Amino acid sequence: MDWGIKNRISRIIKPKTGKTVMLAVDHGYFLGPTTGLEDARATVAPLAPYADAIMLTRGILRNCADPSWNAPIVLRVSGGASILTELSNETITVTMEEALRLNASAVTNSIFIGAPHEKESLVGLSHLVNEGARYGMPVLAVTAVGKDMKRDARYLGLACRIAAEMGAHFVKTYYCEDFEEIAKSCPVPLIVAGGKKTPELEALALTYQAIQKGAVGVDMGRNIFQSEHPAAMIRAVASVVHEKKSVNEAYALYKHLAGNGQPKTAKRQDPAKRAEKSASSPWD
Ligand code: 5RP
Repeated sequence: MDWGIKNRISRIIKPKTGKTVMLAVDHGYFLGPTTGLEDARATVAPLAPYADAIMLTRGILRNCADPSWNAPIVLRVSGGASILTELSNETITVTMEEALRLNASAVTNSIFIGAPHEKESLVGLSHLVNEGARYGMPVLAVTAVGKDMKRDARYLGLACRIAAEMGAHFVKTYYCEDFEEIAKSCPVPLIVAGGKKTPELEALALTYQAIQKGAVGVDMGRNIFQSEHPAAMIRAVASVVHEKKSVNEAYALYKHLAGNGQPKTAKRQDPAKRAEKSASSPWD
């Protein structure tokens, strides 16, 4: 692997622990103003100091992120569909030159295995890998599977392995039963998404299980920014990922930090409304 690619990856996957806590806030690229991200700047600013990397689009980066933030950027460079249409019908939307201009530490797209536009998404990934090799830019592939396919070890394992075969430097997928089987058959680092909003204790348990079973970290969105106490939550997640804390220890830390007035995000809906909206996300 080229020096530039290794150097960029080491900004994201911290060499000290070999792990990462990425904050995913790219949801708007097809979901629009997702609950908790309506005012992206207000939501992300208090979390940025605790994130090992932030995954977002160039629009949110330019308009809502402060260039002085230290967190490396994982730039979503695909799009073209909305929740109202066929989600797999996306393409590469951002050039590598633009990613370099924005000082991205990695670029990312989704691959849709078993979906109508599977091939285009895989060709898109290959294109990024080819361009990434030219400019020293690592590529994170995000795995999605067709609407009728279960997000289980069989299909996610298939998607992760294909992503690695196409040359992705690291892969983002979902946690599921037998996750260790996916990790065993994927030769590049695996990062798990948080999925729909669940109680904090459950999200911490998911993090713990994923790490135990071979993930190098999380790229968590809704379970952080839709939490009642997002900054407390990201720090609790980090304690599991980097400090090997147990679920109960991390939950105690969450409660402690929440009790100590860790900053909340700006505009929060009541929890029932949030859960309802979150549960109907097309990602789940
Ligand atoms: C989906 C993505 C999102 O960033 C990610 O899945 C959202 O994170 P979470 O599920 O934790 O809210 O890449 O294509």
